[in-house]
Formats: sequence, structure tokens, C-alpha cells
Amino acid sequence: MNQSLISIEDLGGDEIARILATAERFEEVMRRDIKRVPTLRGRTVVSLFFEASTRTATSFELAAKRLSADVVSIKASASSVEKGETLKDTILTLNAYGPDIFVIRHRAVGACRAATRYTQAGVLNAGDGMHQHPTQALLDVYTLQREVGPVDRLHVAIVGDIMHSRVARSLVPALTRLGAAVTLVAPPTLMPRDADIAFPGTAISSDAADLDAADVIYVLRMQHERMGDGGFVPSIREYATRYGVNAARLRPGQFVMHPGPMNRGVELTDAVADGPAALIQQQAANGLVVRMAVIYDLLAEGTSGRAGAAPVEARSAA
Ligand code: NCD
Repeated sequence: MNQSLISIEDLGGDEIARILATAERFEEVMRRDIKRVPTLRGRTVVSLFFEASTRTATSFELAAKRLSADVVSIKASASSVEKGETLKDTILTLNAYGPDIFVIRHRAVGACRAATRYTQAGVLNAGDGMHQHPTQALLDVYTLQREVGPVDRLHVAIVGDIMHSRVARSLVPALTRLGAAVTLVAPPTLMPRDADIAFPGTAISSDAADLDAADVIYVLRMQHERMGDGGFVPSIREYATRYGVNAARLRPGQFVMHPGPMNRGVELTDAVADGPAALIQQQAANGLVVRMAVIYDLLAEGTSGRAGAAPVEARSAA
């Protein structure tokens, strides 16, 4: 991997495969009594979240700890200070402590790329506005591979608020690069106008009936915080009726994924979220080993050996 991971487009198919193979090997560490390897002892990871997060922040922090890195986690909700400046000053300040990696989530598109200008440390994008969330795409591909089957044989339909979704902007290129068939389903108001250009190689639809043919329905959250007063849907109730994923809509054998946090009763029902078709808990669990693999891949590159060298063979830290 390059020194930083800002966009899923930074990774070729072989790099994605290498990272996911490393994640697979970390599964074994997670089954040990002592779930920790000494691989990154003496390294420092600074996690900087300017936007709310449960899964991503927790799993990144735990991932770095399980690799024995020193971890500093800062949760700063965006203030009224001009965002770029805040970020720049924060990075410059923290840089004085010599971190190896910054993990950054920020509401501004391009914030993570900008951060690379102020530090020599690697930058991992944990979500920048509506732009990218590459580790989410990696954990989703990992989940598909493990729970459903080889990605190049899958048809994944992504439904919901595609317009405001960094998850879609990261996952779709990963899926198409790996050879999956992808269908995007949304009301026209929640589909980007240039969707055919932004998401080449996908089928685009406003009809929820088109979910039927997919092996996996990937449900996106209605991102109210990015909608302003926009009136993107006539009513949440109507959206739920037309596009919400409920048990009646699911075909036997179909799987359901969601990046979380879920709006239960809006984009999917409780019965689906808690039912046997859902891979949502597995996605959350897989976030840990995948983020361990991403951090490992980035830091191991510059040190002892090649990324992909057996991390798990390392003895457990006592
Ligand atoms: C996603 C995010 O923050 O982009 N969630 C996550 O990382 N688990 C999706 C979302 O907020 O809808």
C-alpha cells in the first residue's frame, strides 16, 4: 500500500486481495486467549474523529492496540472554527509527538488528502464527508467473501441514499474492480445526477423490484445530517414503503448488509435487521481484523519486511 489510504481507488485488485488475506490471518490471533501480537510495538497511531462514530472509531483503536501500537484517540466534534484550519493546526500539533499513522474522520470532502500535506505520517481515511470510506469497503468485501462467496460471482444491489453516501462511493469501485455485478437502486432524488459516470459498470434503477435479482442487498442509511432542508423524499414513511427492505421483499437465500448505524423501520425493518439473512453483526466484527490488516500493511511496508509477511507467526505479546 502507499503510505496513506485516502480512497479505495488507491488500491489495485491485488492489493485488496493482499490486505484481505492478512486480515484472514489475524482471525487466528482473535481466537487466542491473549488477542495481541507485538508486531507494531513502539509505533504510534493517532485516531482523530471530527465526526460521530461507533464502529469505525472503536475498531480502529482496538486494531492498533492488538498490534501493540501506542494509541491516542481524540474525538473532536467540528467546531465553528473554519474546518481546514482546525484540522491543519491539530495535525501540526500532534505531529510533534512523532506518530506513524493518523486515522482521520472529518465532515469535509478532501480533509484526509489535505492532512497528508502537514505530516510525514501515513493517513488512513476513516470517512471524509460524502467522499470516501475505504476501510468500510474493504471490510464489506471481506464479509462478502467469507459469508457469501467469491466476489466475482456475486450480484450486489445497493439501495438507499446513494447521493450522500461515502460508503457507496468506496464500495462500488471495489466491487466492480473485483468483478461483481452491481445494481444501484434509489429514488431519483437520492441518486447522484451523474451516477452513470460516477459509477461506471453498474446498473442504475429507481425501482425496488430490481433488488430481487441480487444475491446481496446492501442497505444504506438515510443520511439526514447531510440533507439540510432538502426535501429529498416526500416523507420517510413513503420512502420506507417504497424502498425499505422488509421480510416480504427478501427472496429466500438473499443476504442483507448495512454499514450501520441503522434507522430501523426506515431503510430496513427490525425483522430483517435481526433475521437470519442479515450479515450486519459480521460486518462490525470483521471491521477489526480488516483494520488490523490495513494498519499492518501500511506500517510493515517501511520496516522489517514486506507487507503480507506473516504477521500472525509473530509470538503473542505477553
Ligand atoms: C458509515 C459512515 O460513517 O460513513 N458508517 C460507518 O462507518 N459504520 C455509514 C453511515 O453513516 O451511514
